[in-house]
Amino acid sequence: MIKGKPFLTVEQIQTRVKELAESISSDYEGKEILAVGILKGAFMFFADIVRYVQVPMDIDFLIVSSYVRTQSSGEMKIHADLRENVSGRHVLLIEDIVDTGLTLNYLKNMILKRNPASLKICTFLDKKPRRKVDIHIDYAGYEVPDKYLVGYGLDYENKFRNLPYIAVFKEIT
Ligand code: IMP
Ligand code: MG
Repeated sequence: MIKGKPFLTVEQIQTRVKELAESISSDYEGKEILAVGILKGAFMFFADIVRYVQVPMDIDFLIVSSYVRTQSSGEMKIHADLRENVSGRHVLLIEDIVDTGLTLNYLKNMILKRNPASLKICTFLDKKPRRKVDIHIDYAGYEVPDKYLVGYGLDYENKFRNLPYIAVFKEIT
C-alpha cells in the first residue's frame, strides 16, 4: 500500500530538473554531449532532464547492478554496456541517487579508461551522509538525508519506480 506525503513533490522535482538542465545547457554551450543514463534507476530523471537541455546530444545507457558488489571494491555487474564509442566525447553520466558513491566511482573509472574529452556527473539525489568514496559531483538536484527513498525511478525490491514523486519508504507490518 502506498500512503503518506511525498518527500519531494512532482512540482519540486520538475522545478529542480529544469534548473539543472539550464546549468548544463550553459556549461556545455558550443559542445555536444553524450548523455549516459544509468539504468534502471535513472530512467525517469534521464527522460525528464534531456528534454530541457538545449545542447545537441546523443544518448546512451548503461544497465548496471551492484549484484556482485563487494564493500571494498565497489565492483558492479554490467548487464549492458554502452553502444557508443566515448573516445573524444563529452560524456555526462546521469544517475538517480549517489549513496556510498561506489557505483559512480566504478563507472567513472571505467569510462575514463576509454578516453572521453570530458566526463561529468549529474545525479538527481545526493545522499551525502553515506558516502564511502570521495567523488566529485558536478550537478546534484537535492541533497537528501540517510533515509531509504522510493519513486521517480528509485525502487524497493524493484517496486515503486513508477511513482511520479519521491517518498520515504517504510514497511507497514
Ligand atoms: P552507491 O553505489 O552506494 O552510491 O549506490 C547507488 C545506487 O544504490 C543507486 O543507483 C540506487 O540504485 C541505490 N540506492 C541508494 N540509495 C537508495 C535509496 O534511498 N532508494 C533506492 N535506491 C537507492
Ligand atoms: Mg541506480
